Amino acid sequence: MIRVVEGGAGDVAGMMTIMHDAFDPRFGEAWTAAQCLSSLVMPDCQLLLAKDEDAICGFAMSSWVLDHQELLMIGVAQRLQGQHIGQLLLSETILRARQGGRSKIFLEVRDGNKAHDFYQKHGFTSIGRRKNYYKNAEGTSPDAITMLLEL
Ligand SMILES: CC(C)(COP(=O)(O)OP(=O)(O)OC[C@H]1O[C@@H](n2cnc3c(N)ncnc32)[C@H](O)[C@@H]1OP(=O)(O)O)[C@@H](O)C(=O)NCCC(=O)NCCS
Repeated sequence: MIRVVEGGAGDVAGMMTIMHDAFDPRFGEAWTAAQCLSSLVMPDCQLLLAKDEDAICGFAMSSWVLDHQELLMIGVAQRLQGQHIGQLLLSETILRARQGGRSKIFLEVRDGNKAHDFYQKHGFTSIGRRKNYYKNAEGTSPDAITMLLEL
């Protein structure tokens, strides 16, 4: 059975295994371990892990300033995608944001990433576009769509 638990800086290696598996390297969306660590050592940052027994199979990382939260990254092991693990992680993120008194959750998603539909299904709406936000391996720079969920 999959459960969602809180993780921390000590889980970066396990998180990176999922990061490399879930994100297509062509698109330049994945973070490095150093980038993840630098967020996770900050106090207003949260890592949620989806675990199958003891094995990490998904993660969601957020940070916040006052009542504005940002969902920095979410990923599920490829072989387990489509089994509502992402939904579990996102629902728990939203629940904890509400409990923490946050009023909004923002995120950026690459223009063309189907995860846009996943977020929309969970109530996020597109509110803006950041031109050439990503740098991918093919030398192009896709835009990011900014999405917002009002809590
Ligand atoms: C995006 C991601 C986290 C979703 O997790 P998941 O476990 O595969 O998604 P779920 O099974 O929980 O899906 C929940 C709902 O969203 C929908 N959904 C999920 N991924 C979708 C997609 N790519 N396109 C359209 N709908 C999608 C599902 O159909 C499902 O709807 P349902 O409840 O009506 O069946 C996962 O696909 C992933 O890791 N993708 C690669 C990394 C990435 O791009 N992350 C987002 C950018 S930070």
